[in-house]
Amino acid sequence: MSKLALLGGEKTVKIDYETAGNLPCVNEKGLETAVDLMRKGQISTSPLVKEFEKRFAEYIGTEYGLCSNNGTSSLHEALFAAGVGPGDEVIVPSYTFWATAGPIVSAQGNPVFADVDKETYNLDPKAIEKNITSRTKAIMVVHVWGNPADMDAIMAIARKYNIAVIEDCSHAHGAMLNGKKVGSIGDLGCFSLQASKTMPGGEGGILTTNNREYFERAVALGHYERLADLPEDSDYRKYSLTGMGYKYRIHPIAVALASSAFDELDERNEIRNRNGKALEKGLEGIDCIIPQKVLDGAVRQYSYHFATYDETKLDNIPLEVFLKALKEEGVACGFCGYGRLHKAPLFTERDNFRHVELPVTEYLATHTFMMAPRFEKECPELIDQYIEAYHKVVNNADELKEYAAKNEDLNAAANISGRSINLL
Ligand SMILES: Cc1ncc(COP(=O)(O)O)c(C=O)c1O
Repeated sequence: MSKLALLGGEKTVKIDYETAGNLPCVNEKGLETAVDLMRKGQISTSPLVKEFEKRFAEYIGTEYGLCSNNGTSSLHEALFAAGVGPGDEVIVPSYTFWATAGPIVSAQGNPVFADVDKETYNLDPKAIEKNITSRTKAIMVVHVWGNPADMDAIMAIARKYNIAVIEDCSHAHGAMLNGKKVGSIGDLGCFSLQASKTMPGGEGGILTTNNREYFERAVALGHYERLADLPEDSDYRKYSLTGMGYKYRIHPIAVALASSAFDELDERNEIRNRNGKALEKGLEGIDCIIPQKVLDGAVRQYSYHFATYDETKLDNIPLEVFLKALKEEGVACGFCGYGRLHKAPLFTERDNFRHVELPVTEYLATHTFMMAPRFEKECPELIDQYIEAYHKVVNNADELKEYAAKNEDLNAAANISGRSINLL
């Protein structure tokens, strides 16, 4: 058995990810379109914005699309559109980026954190129903790591209680459930176009909906200059001097970049998915690694590749030590960072905050990890080296256990819930 790189052996992953597996986040067409906009002086508004909104909404399967300056603003718009206001409760997971819940505060609502499913990492419909009160106005669903949530069950609950559903699709551009794209299943969808996403504009967001009233309210919140374009009978045209006090317009250059990335989205998703599945296939039989479960009827996108580490299946070797060994082999892996929002002072210091126990979320916060970077290109040799590295680390559990015993500081770190590394 070859010696672990951690203990002085040869590193397994020798192929450079940046050359073999990654792509520049801006493609050539994006660069050209951005320069063209600058030459034309379209650096604040541009017809490209509405063109892109139309194309993206058609792709998702909604009547309306609305760009904004980031995904966080789109989420604020969606909450305002759904009528969330002072004292209203919004059910939301804690296993997500802060911006899923932060805008609930901006909308003057109260986030109510609900637990997630241990296998899909997405909101657990049973936990949603348990948390519904007469104040519940919306459910904020995240398709975390590109994996569609159980929208059938969630929509059934929402319809039963007459509550709006907002989908945070920031990780899930192009993901589908039962033939429908995420972002068209709930009442509103929101997609981040930030640089680390699969349709990057640098900073930007896009909201999707089939509901005219919701669209017009979203426009009213952050796009005063577009209110005059609404139909004559719109209730919101009267706000065109001021909007609602926010200015959420997207930079046209972000649209140039995102719309060029959008042209390649399906093709890129296919490659990423093939690569993600190849890695998981190669790791079958390693029982300390449990891949994120995908629901029947769902097409997930491997926009991010996370899994659960079960230390009880590997001699109780802490995740810290496991990841350190993988990193030394050349695997780009890391901790999660999600699952701590229900303890964040932004929320807990608020009046009426509902303190909750979220055992599954807390487990996932300390047991999920990033397995690999996004493989953007066909790179079978690189993926094979990743697979080999994982097998090597697992097959050297005895040495690793000894290493863990000698490195108590790493073990101690394993007991701190919510590690500091956050990719986003
Ligand atoms: C799940 C999730 N929601 C919302 C956002 C917010 O998007 P943005 O960074 O574009 O504001 C992000 C982006 O990082 C995210 O990952």
